[in-house]
Amino acid sequence: MKTVSSFQTLKNNNEKIAMLTAYDYSTAQVLDKAEVDAILVGDSLAMVVLGHENTYNITIDEMLIFVSAVARGAKNSFIIGDMPFMSYNLSVAQGLENAGKMIKAGANAVKLEGCNDHIINLIKRCTESGIPVLGHLGFTPQLMNALGGHKIQGKTSDKIEAILESAKKLEEAGCFGIVLELMPADSAKYITENLNIPTIGIGAGVNCSGQIVVIDDILGKFTDFTPKFVKKYANLHDDIMKGVLAYKQEVKEGLFPSDKESFELNKEEKEKLFS
Ligand code: KIV
Repeated sequence: MKTVSSFQTLKNNNEKIAMLTAYDYSTAQVLDKAEVDAILVGDSLAMVVLGHENTYNITIDEMLIFVSAVARGAKNSFIIGDMPFMSYNLSVAQGLENAGKMIKAGANAVKLEGCNDHIINLIKRCTESGIPVLGHLGFTPQLMNALGGHKIQGKTSDKIEAILESAKKLEEAGCFGIVLELMPADSAKYITENLNIPTIGIGAGVNCSGQIVVIDDILGKFTDFTPKFVKKYANLHDDIMKGVLAYKQEVKEGLFPSDKESFELNKEEKEKLFS
């Protein structure tokens, strides 16, 4: 069983941390068998599973359904529940209560985006209450409107120092790691080298302590758009299409179901009906 301390051990041993998102029971079973270092039930599911345009329109109650499905499928994995927009922004009490719901649903930790006084207080209260927290800096989708869109972050030394300052505050508040999203590889390298806790990159180059990607992106299942930082390891959209078309054709031609997929009525009963 992987635990929150596995992250620091992997970093200290110079072993890269391989994380993936998952949102459902059967995918979680695969990730569990593959022994990925951790599974994030990301609010990206608002887009890749529910078809929303961004991550704003998912609630804590919806997230909990997916977290519990993943927890049932991945019994040996470290599972992180992503706190959705406005599930922790109103007050520390609100954030702590919702983080507790994530843990009760089967998560081992939660992820929060950004860094300000409120987030720092919330991280402290979560960690004091036994809820490990993963931070998230750089491009933070829940702050997209304030950031002026989907833009690469940390492009100047001033901005990189500002992200590092936030990262240090998150580390001090008790985060066990920090996701760094969408920034030049050297910016993430500098931030990683100046922290004790591991960084998990997404679109942040190879020098982070580990990587996270959206599983539907790397398996080619989500095809609305493909960010530059995504490498495709499979093409599930085409594989599913092939399967669906073959099924459709066999149904139309009366080839499915064959005897192999059917149940037989005993001979006597059959004669009563058809003779
Ligand atoms: O929601 C998500 O999947 C994420 C990762 C991409 C870091 O936040």
